[in-house]
Order: sequence, then structure tokens, then C-alpha cells
Amino acid sequence: MHFLPEQASTISVEVDHLMYFLLAVSIFFTVLIFGAVFYFAIRYRRRSESEPPRTQHTGLALEVVWSVIPFGLTMIMFGWGASLFFREARPPDDAMQIYVVGKQWMWKLQHMEGQREINELHIPINRPVKLLMTSEDVIHSFYVPGFRTKQDVVPGRYSITWFTATKPGKYHLFCAEYCGTRHSGMIGWVYAMEPQEYQEWLAGGPSGSMADAGARLFDDLACGNCHKPDGSGRCPNLVGVYGSNVKLADGRTVKADEAYIRESILNPPAKVVEGFQPLMPTFQGLVTEEGVVELIEYIKSLSPRPGQPAPTQTTVPSTEPAAGGSSPGNR
Ligand code: CUA
Repeated sequence: MHFLPEQASTISVEVDHLMYFLLAVSIFFTVLIFGAVFYFAIRYRRRSESEPPRTQHTGLALEVVWSVIPFGLTMIMFGWGASLFFREARPPDDAMQIYVVGKQWMWKLQHMEGQREINELHIPINRPVKLLMTSEDVIHSFYVPGFRTKQDVVPGRYSITWFTATKPGKYHLFCAEYCGTRHSGMIGWVYAMEPQEYQEWLAGGPSGSMADAGARLFDDLACGNCHKPDGSGRCPNLVGVYGSNVKLADGRTVKADEAYIRESILNPPAKVVEGFQPLMPTFQGLVTEEGVVELIEYIKSLSPRPGQPAPTQTTVPSTEPAAGGSSPGNR
């Protein structure tokens, strides 16, 4: 019987330390305040019907002390909590990515290499894993207590969480947001494995990566009729788009991330690229969320990995005041 679930990720120890601190402060003040309430109630009780209350004078020093100490304590809680929150919200650049789609009432997961899972997630230990998550229907929440990870999974947008598992083992996966009658059945397991074992597990999967599946879908939907790789099509060339800054017809500049690509597939008129007409029909209802993430992976595969210079087609330098001298050449 454990007071807390096993600490199985890098951040879990720190989350627990913060939790113990909050608990200790709460217990200390609960005891102090209730102790004082009972002590004063007895010590200064009314002793007879005719006893007039004594005149009370406030003490400035006392009031300053009982304001400054709680203020300091709450600022420590704020600073500590915020720094942990920021760390949990920012996956490292070298994290391996896994896509998660929640639906009533199951978790569907897909690895870059093409492996698909339902209500099970296999990951290697000692390697940061980033989850890019969305929902097909209502709000769910991806919760792995052993990793101290809980993140809402919201329809219509991508939410991100990440963790680095530290111990091989089998950990509970829950949905932590009430999502309908079988919410309590929306559970599963995360299997943290030695990297070698994980490689063997991956090798046992289907051949063909997510990007390959996306390329097939791209063909099936005839996207290539307009998005021609040489830039001669009626729609923007997609080579090098991912990660670039895209200038829009309305003058805005947006970063081509996963959310931008998803929106451009499902709601193309929302952000029309400068120099192009809003010709593209919506693919809402024609592509599933899983299809969308495969298309995203395909489009990502058309862009160079970080570190290499980005192609300049359909990309323009950031219009923001150049904080670090950003241009396509040195990004
Ligand atoms: Cu999904 Cu609760």
C-alpha cells in the first residue's frame, strides 16, 4: 500500500517534493489556526452574563508579521510550482514524438515508425517522449500517475505533454476528465521498456512509417494535383513548409506547426497563404484525426531536420523585430 504511486519519471520526484511542501505548510497552519481558535475560545470565554467585553487594541508588528510570512510562503509556492509547470510544458527538442487521439472511450496511439496501439503505450526508458494529443469528440485527459503527468486532450486542437520514464515497468493510464458513460473504462497501461527491448518491440510492428501512410493518403486525396512539389501548382508548395514562417494573404505571419497544418487541412480558408486564392475545399469529415496526423508527418518529412538550412520556397523571414537576426538562412 503506497501513499503515492511509484516515482517512475524524471519529474515525479520533484513534483512529490512540491506536494510534500504544500502538505507540510497546510498541516502546520491547520494545527496552528485550530489550536489558536480553541485556546482563545477557552482562555477568553465570557465568564458571567454581566461581564463587559474588554477593549481590544491591534498590534502593528503582529499584523505585519502575519501578513509577510504567508505572503513569502505563497510566493515560494508560486515560484516553485511555476518553474515545474514550465518545465513540464516544454518538451526537449530531441524528444521522440508519439501521437495520441482520444475518443469515447479509448486511447489510440501511433508511433513515428507506424506502430499503432489502443489503450497501451510502449516507450523506452531514459528518453524524453513527447505526446501530441487531440480528441475526436469530447474533452479527455491523459493521466499517468506514475509519471505525474496529466494533460487535457481537447477536440479541435493539439495539446502537448512529455516525460522521461526512469524505471522499466507497467504503469496505469487513465482518462481524468469525465467524458461520458464509459469514462471509467477509458483506461490502459504504459509499458516502459529498456531501449533494446523497445527497439525489438517496434521491429515487430507493421512496415511503413506514419510519413509513408501520410504520403499514401496524400495521393488518395489527390492533394498533389494542386500542391505540386516544384511550386507550379495552384496551391502552395509544401516542401520545407513545416517549421517555417508563412506569410498570409491578410498580412499576418504564422509559424507552420502541427496546429497550423491541421487547420489548413480541415478549415483551409482560415489562413490563406499570400499570393494564393482560397481554392482548397475543406477536408473536414473526409479525413480522420489519425489521417490528419499522418498527413502532418508526411508534410514534416518534406522539411529538413533542425540544424539544416530551411528551403526558402513559400517561406519568408519573420516580420517581427529581429530579436536574434532571424532569416531563413540561419534559423
Ligand atoms: Cu475520456 Cu474520461
